[in-house]
Amino acid sequence: MNNGDMQLSSESAEARDALAKAMHGMCLWKADFMNDIKTALGADPDFAMAHAVRALALTAGRHVRFLPMMRSGLEKAKAGAAPLSAHESAYIEALEHAVDLRPDLAIEVYKRILAEHPCDMFMHRLAQQELFNFGRKAEMYELAETAAPHWSSEMTDYPIFLSNRAFGNEEMLHYAEAERYGREAIERDPGDPWGAHAVAHVLVMQGRVEDGVNWLEGLCGNWAGKNQIVHHNWWHLCLFLLERGEHERILELFDTEVYNPASPLIQAMPDNVIDVTNVAALLLRLELRGVDVGERWQVVLEPAEGRIGNHAHPFTSAHAAIILAACGSFEQADELIRSMTDFADSDDGPFGVCMRKAALPAAKAAIAHRKGDHEAVVAGFMPGRLDLVAMGGSQAQRDVFFQILVDSCRQLGRKKELAQLAQDISAIGFEAVGQRTLYAEAFAA
Ligand SMILES: [Fe+2]
Repeated sequence: MNNGDMQLSSESAEARDALAKAMHGMCLWKADFMNDIKTALGADPDFAMAHAVRALALTAGRHVRFLPMMRSGLEKAKAGAAPLSAHESAYIEALEHAVDLRPDLAIEVYKRILAEHPCDMFMHRLAQQELFNFGRKAEMYELAETAAPHWSSEMTDYPIFLSNRAFGNEEMLHYAEAERYGREAIERDPGDPWGAHAVAHVLVMQGRVEDGVNWLEGLCGNWAGKNQIVHHNWWHLCLFLLERGEHERILELFDTEVYNPASPLIQAMPDNVIDVTNVAALLLRLELRGVDVGERWQVVLEPAEGRIGNHAHPFTSAHAAIILAACGSFEQADELIRSMTDFADSDDGPFGVCMRKAALPAAKAAIAHRKGDHEAVVAGFMPGRLDLVAMGGSQAQRDVFFQILVDSCRQLGRKKELAQLAQDISAIGFEAVGQRTLYAEAFAA
């Protein structure tokens, strides 16, 4: 366990070892890392860092229902018995900001910690995740690159760091570097889902469909014991299959791997944000290509309803609009838009900006598109389309909203806008745009 050789202050060696294992497990997307935190707290109930790490890990839930648990974790972390190092105290300081729904301030503390402890992998993972949620790609890249000279290949977490570095590079369109780091991460640990994911992103951005299918099919057998990121990696495989027109296979994978209601992970948390956004973005892509997806939208109706008045993740709110409209729940879709609008008008923190600039126009466009009001899609969404990055997510994920816009322009025969969108999508980083399904037809026309 290197984690920047972090001191974990507890008198119990069992508690320290269990927490170090949990932090390593979280970085590797292990489904059971919270059990190791439980073990740590069982051995030392006053273990401040175990309380802090659990609460910080819950930020990934992106749902208001986790806030009480995070607050309680903060209180217990502050009440811990053992004196803490400055490194540990900074974790608790970051948690205070996270609990106050000020991820922008938490990020500043994460950056400070990484400046002093560039090999703290848990902190790299948290920082990347938080920056990712606000579309702050350049900082994701800079954090990894600044830390890189401090890492060496014999460190335990080195393969995980390579995966992070790969993804930071990929989102900045440094595809060659991203692919090199991602492949090296996988050579060192074939079971790392984030390394697999980073390279899948390179391949989808470059339109390398066959490479993408081979890459993910070759690695999917290594993901046992990992969490919802595995569903997202299957989603990525579906993106490649979409380009091959293999719709039946995608529907089969949807039911068995992307969102299988019988799987223990989905049963434990049917509204996980990764899962909800995967479902919305995949089913809509299929429908835009004329595929009948049957009753599948219904599996995420409840999680989408759960986003009304819940603004912990504007990116998911925008996807909830897609889902509610697809389910024909237009009254709830209107309610969602009202609650998002009120929040956007009243919140002066980073979530408000994210909602105002990106998630709200995207959500309105998704609903108008479902109603067939393509004029409203184009009028409402075209002007601010390049601000979409502010709602976070990856280039590949946000692309579904560009597909909505392109489809509406196509339906209206808006040649000028289509030409502009073809340029925009290339500038965003997609290569071979003219060969991609949906876009090929729309832009050729
Ligand atoms: Fe992804």
